[in-house]
Amino acid sequence: MHDLQTLLEQRIRTATAAAFGDEHAAIDPLIRSASNPQHGDFQANLAMALGKKLGQPPRKVAEAIVDALDTQGLLAGVSLGGPGFINLTVEPGVLAEHAVAMLADDGGGVPRAGTPQTVVVDYSSPNVAKEMHVGHLRSTVIGDALVRTLEAVGHTVVRQNHLGDWGTQFGMLIENLKDAGFDPQAGASAGELTALYKAAKKRFDDDADFNTRARARVVKLQAGDEETLAVWRALVALSNDYFETVYGRMGVKLTRDDVRGESFYNDKLAAVVGRLDEGGHLKESQGAKVVFPEGFADREGEPLPMIVQKSDGGYLYATTDLAAAVYRVEEIKAARVIYVIGLPQRQHFQMFSTTLRQCGWVDDAVRLDYVGFGSVLGADKKMFKTRSGETVRLVDLLDEAEKRAAAAIAEKNPDLPGSEAAAVAKAVGMGSLKYADLSGDRVKDYVFDWDRMLALDGNTAPYLLYSYARIRSIFRKGDIAFDGFAGGQVSVAASAERGLVLQLLGFGAMVESVAQSLEPHRLCNYLYELATRYHRFFEACPVLKSEGELRDSRLALCKLTALTLERGLGLLGIEVVERM
Ligand code: ARG
Repeated sequence: MHDLQTLLEQRIRTATAAAFGDEHAAIDPLIRSASNPQHGDFQANLAMALGKKLGQPPRKVAEAIVDALDTQGLLAGVSLGGPGFINLTVEPGVLAEHAVAMLADDGGGVPRAGTPQTVVVDYSSPNVAKEMHVGHLRSTVIGDALVRTLEAVGHTVVRQNHLGDWGTQFGMLIENLKDAGFDPQAGASAGELTALYKAAKKRFDDDADFNTRARARVVKLQAGDEETLAVWRALVALSNDYFETVYGRMGVKLTRDDVRGESFYNDKLAAVVGRLDEGGHLKESQGAKVVFPEGFADREGEPLPMIVQKSDGGYLYATTDLAAAVYRVEEIKAARVIYVIGLPQRQHFQMFSTTLRQCGWVDDAVRLDYVGFGSVLGADKKMFKTRSGETVRLVDLLDEAEKRAAAAIAEKNPDLPGSEAAAVAKAVGMGSLKYADLSGDRVKDYVFDWDRMLALDGNTAPYLLYSYARIRSIFRKGDIAFDGFAGGQVSVAASAERGLVLQLLGFGAMVESVAQSLEPHRLCNYLYELATRYHRFFEACPVLKSEGELRDSRLALCKLTALTLERGLGLLGIEVVERM
């Protein structure tokens, strides 16, 4: 069965073709949820654009489409509104039938992409020998949600953790580690590594002798000196252990196999520069090798270079990204590459992606998507920092989220047994942290606020998780097995039932739209609206107290709501709990 949206689109298209000729059948019917439910369930808004094209008043265009519209077996009512809106009311039987089908569908009503693609998602990408901080929260959480969403619509996702594991900073790091008598076999915690990193940086800046030795160490590293490489490998391995524990705690779908760090491209960089040269794209600028991506200018209006090789022969972050893109398109054969990188690196993305296009290395068939995001701010609207002014460690946030959620749960539901309470606290804490990050438009900064993210009302994870748990409690109270309940017919006679079903039926189109727009906050808004409509339904329509078929119908709506909340939250990387 096609989803409702698609069925409506087809009918409007056919009517448009009948009224104005086949050449207009391809126009987007612009089906939207009705802005006012009094007028119908949906509206088709194409008459405005079509009227302009045809040089006719939109109202007349809308009338002609309505006259040609086949309503048979789908629509119970059609009317005109405003300058040319076509209001559509779906037959109750059709809504009911779709709800029943959605409940039976293993995919939860999410349509599979017509042409499944190989999609690379570059996300998280922390740096070796440094702890993950709040800045990595967003890339990790947003990337994870996008991976899950793209997989749900049937794409093959290749996750790439573009680890910062190479570069000149490793010279000072390794030199300092050797001075400190570091034993590659013995290991070190992430905290110790960060402290060593800071110490190395300080020595590098203050101590001329150390500075010279650190520079020599970089040369050794790049030349493949075995002793140096051994320390470097140990560092990378220790960091990967640590990243793995963080991802595990967060329930993020990233493993060691997904790591393609900067070092992976090391032996491909010379070829990238060579290829730029052969194509005539390479220029010299003050001894450095550069390219000029079209359309970039500095403050003086001069063309802005992107350096790909320094005068000392060293390669840069941009060179690595060129090599990575070539690898992803030519080796992984990606049809789409998604970069989940903070807005400060927006220009970097634009410059290397423009270069890839103008060199013809990535053609128009391959989509390069930049998923930028704003910063996490403190209550003072400045960058989120600890009280002593340090960047906030990601693990501290995870700890605190669980601690605060545990306290809230102990207060709200003191009867939960200890082990369950701990699991619930983890799910609620992690869910709240993620949801707060995902629920706002990602390009905006957001203020980190524990009280708001853990609030039980409003557009928060606890509200949605609680809605889910409430539904599960209805089944427990009625002594009905949730998983086994199949439901029968569905009634949409009450307006609260109808409103709920309409929202439920929009789930598939919503997931599809997030896979396109890469904006998880749309899904959050959808789920919030779903929970709100559910509560309206629950207040207006007794469930356990009703009888016979009506009781089954309402239980079916409860179950479908719970499953949709679970699926939707699952796409955001958030786990539901049966009680809280
Ligand atoms: N390691 C970088 C950082 O922490 C992020 C890498 C993003 N990905 C990329 N392909 N450049 O800023």
